[in-house]
Amino acid sequence: MLRSQPSNWEFHLEIAPCLIDGRLHTQSDEAPLEVRNPATDAVVGLMPMCSAAVASTAADAAVHAFSSWKRTTASERARLLRLVAARLRSDRDAFARMITLECGKPLLEARGEVEYSASFFDAAASAGEGLEGSTIASRIADRRAFALREPIGATMAITPWNFPLAMIARKTGPALAAGCTQVVKPSEETPLTAALLSQAMLDCGIPAGVFNCVTGDPATIVGALLAHPGMRKLSFTGSTEVGRLLARQASDRLVRCALELGGNAPFIVFADADLARAADQLIAAKFRFMGQTCISANRVYVERSVQSAFLALIEARMDALTLGDPLLETTRVGPLINDAAIAKVTRHVQDAIARGATLRRGGSIAKLAGMSQRFFEPTLLVGGTPSMACACEETFGPVLTIHAFDTEAEVILAANAVAVGLAAYVMTQDADRLWRVVEQLDAGVVGANDGAPSAAEAPFGGFKESGYGKEGGRIGVEEYTRVKYVSMRVRS
Ligand code: SIN
Repeated sequence: MLRSQPSNWEFHLEIAPCLIDGRLHTQSDEAPLEVRNPATDAVVGLMPMCSAAVASTAADAAVHAFSSWKRTTASERARLLRLVAARLRSDRDAFARMITLECGKPLLEARGEVEYSASFFDAAASAGEGLEGSTIASRIADRRAFALREPIGATMAITPWNFPLAMIARKTGPALAAGCTQVVKPSEETPLTAALLSQAMLDCGIPAGVFNCVTGDPATIVGALLAHPGMRKLSFTGSTEVGRLLARQASDRLVRCALELGGNAPFIVFADADLARAADQLIAAKFRFMGQTCISANRVYVERSVQSAFLALIEARMDALTLGDPLLETTRVGPLINDAAIAKVTRHVQDAIARGATLRRGGSIAKLAGMSQRFFEPTLLVGGTPSMACACEETFGPVLTIHAFDTEAEVILAANAVAVGLAAYVMTQDADRLWRVVEQLDAGVVGANDGAPSAAEAPFGGFKESGYGKEGGRIGVEEYTRVKYVSMRVRS
């Protein structure tokens, strides 16, 4: 493992404005919350703590704006969304820097996130222009029957810290493209990137009330938004535990939910895989943002006959990962988001060792001069038991655990033996086997010889306790619509 040198830190001490009904405001009903850089612990900005009343005002604005936004043409909405995409690209470095400062994502990846976000606005614009309803062949001669697709109404999005910009883009792009309006509540860890996006939305001419962003105590803000009589849909990305709570809360008013929840992705490497390519894909799937993605490979199954050859390939790649200041171009491994994340990763490693796993790389907090204690060494464990915490729970950290297997049937059973099913990966050069396994994996996203399957044009979302609803592409826009059946009698 390599280490990069610290850069010169810049400190921002600004209050991140909320956007309500076309106006930016920094009013905080309680003391604003400090937003800290996980790499240094320095305060990088302040987040307004809005009251329930302010959140309701944002919902009012979204409901009010819906009546005119839904009547704009899909191509006008697409034009504005493409302007937002262009703005993200032209301000890429400012967005990327803010992402890195707030959540510690290495700058190179943060730039990738800005492009990923822009692609959500572009893809949603195109999908919105292509929305279609249908005509239905009637059994009655003078009846004409139609299924119309309409925007569902005012919506709300609760977004996570691991993609401070892309997870807003993934929800807001499709919502606006379909003709819905939205109130976003970004994570308390990353409100500054959301505020930059609010400014971009205003500058690009998104009309007042169409996009709103409110920060504050999650229970207060979400409670007020969900209780609002005009709120029609909730989209949430986060843990299964919180998703369950939200689904219960949303059921009071039968608000439609899209829940993109936790994963515990299996990554299967058959002996007939191109092992070097599989190793590259695994490094991408495991160490992107230090394993803090919902589709991160969490349980790696390698066919026993190639385990030592594969381990050698993985170890060489892990040794080349540069750990350090995430603002440096050379850094590939930065800090974890907070102390709780460090505690969880440490617990998973200790538990695995106690249950018989062998530690081959890492395993400890990395001490870096002038930086926080939130850097964890990329860690490689081999063996252990299926009951280890790192096999049963999503680690959400840079810990790679390799388990050996002998047969296809055995590995499919093991891969599916968890309550969640967001992503799964399979590496093999046998096309028959590839299809067989893809069809049997109980996961909403499958990377077939691909360790980075996410794409703005593709439907993303899990099965089982990973939630329901899809985001991205045509299906992602359709999720913000409702179907109205129209029956019309015609005199002949
Ligand atoms: C997530 O971690 O929730 C999103 C991952 C992705 O978009 O690739």
